[in-house]
Amino acid sequence: MQSTPIQPALIQSTLSQQIAPFHVMELVKQADALAQQGHPVVHLSIGEPDFGTPPPVLEAYCTALAEHKTRYTAALGLMPLREAIAGFYQSQFGVLVRPEQIVVTSGASAALQFACLALLNPGDEVLLTDPGYPCNKTFVQAAGGQPRFVQTNAANNFQPTAEDLSAAWRPNTRGALLASPNNPTGTRLSASQCQAICTAIAQRGGFLIMDEIYQSLCYGSPARSILQTMGPPDEHNQLVVINSFSKYFGMTGLRLGWMVVPDYLVEGVEKLAQNLSICPPAPAQWAALACFDQAALDICEARRAEFGQRRDFLLKALPEAGLVVDTTPDSAFYLYVKTPIDSDNYCNRLLNQHWVCAVPGKDFSINLGHERMRLSYANSLNNLHQAVERIRAFNTSLGVA
Ligand SMILES: Cc1ncc(COP(=O)(O)O)c(C=O)c1O
Repeated sequence: MQSTPIQPALIQSTLSQQIAPFHVMELVKQADALAQQGHPVVHLSIGEPDFGTPPPVLEAYCTALAEHKTRYTAALGLMPLREAIAGFYQSQFGVLVRPEQIVVTSGASAALQFACLALLNPGDEVLLTDPGYPCNKTFVQAAGGQPRFVQTNAANNFQPTAEDLSAAWRPNTRGALLASPNNPTGTRLSASQCQAICTAIAQRGGFLIMDEIYQSLCYGSPARSILQTMGPPDEHNQLVVINSFSKYFGMTGLRLGWMVVPDYLVEGVEKLAQNLSICPPAPAQWAALACFDQAALDICEARRAEFGQRRDFLLKALPEAGLVVDTTPDSAFYLYVKTPIDSDNYCNRLLNQHWVCAVPGKDFSINLGHERMRLSYANSLNNLHQAVERIRAFNTSLGVA
């Protein structure tokens, strides 16, 4: 008997078909092929620190494995780790958060997913920024929500104002998901901007999910948390704060993050965690306890200082090489800069003719994507020097340097 041919469009979910691929992956494939042919490709495309996991954390990970700490943990995470995270908020930011409000998750990714699933009903609208982290719209959509983009621009440091959010608010808007510092722009909100945004959202009875994954990677002025401005999450501020061990603590592949939630969300998030992931990875949780020891913090701080030097270098060198840098990113390890020609075309030629891999802007922005690219400085100063020289050569050939 002949079976009817399968029509993928009919058997795949709308969401799985809708999700936009990361365009940069195509370029990264090309970059790998060029590197295999012997070309000295420099990556400015990487979204994770190049330093790896701090040795004391790796040692703690190995010890956890040797001690067979590989069983399920509580769905909300190990209590000693939740206490250590609460201690971090107190020592670094002077904020009192109770450990019971902290939920350990498999990266900020799971925290964002749980936050959306815990807060949204089908059809609820959530305000996101353009440019912004591309996965956010998928977290919203996976929870049945509808993303609505608020355009930000260089003049506002690529962060929304309270007025922007108020103007975008509609009857079915339930809240906003913001990131400070943001990816791809490396810019953050000031304390007074946070205050104004929280007030505007609270007046509308909405929630605010604030992604602070790049919080401790900041240069020039101290790290900040919205919790310093708004206090711990509660039923009044309807705040959920997201964070991760991925970036500052260099644990990307160990998949560990956390969220700080109002008490009324703990039970719902616990049920979601039990059902969707059972628990975050156990050895990574034991290892993460070492992150808050002075030895690991000293390493992370030294790395932060190095990121700062790289940022300073690029902020000076890129304009000299013919690129317009119209914001002063003070966080994360990204610059979202203008390209002299269409960014797809620019990034393609930059890679294939000059062996520098950068991320075309359209992965992060519907409206500005074609005129910008994201440069990551998660690469050595030496490699950044080489990359800038090649960018200068390319821009010279375009007549803009
Ligand atoms: C803004 C932002 N939020 C969340 C994530 C997810 O991070 P993870 O799941 O590794 O903690 C990333 C990753 O790059 C990011 O840039």
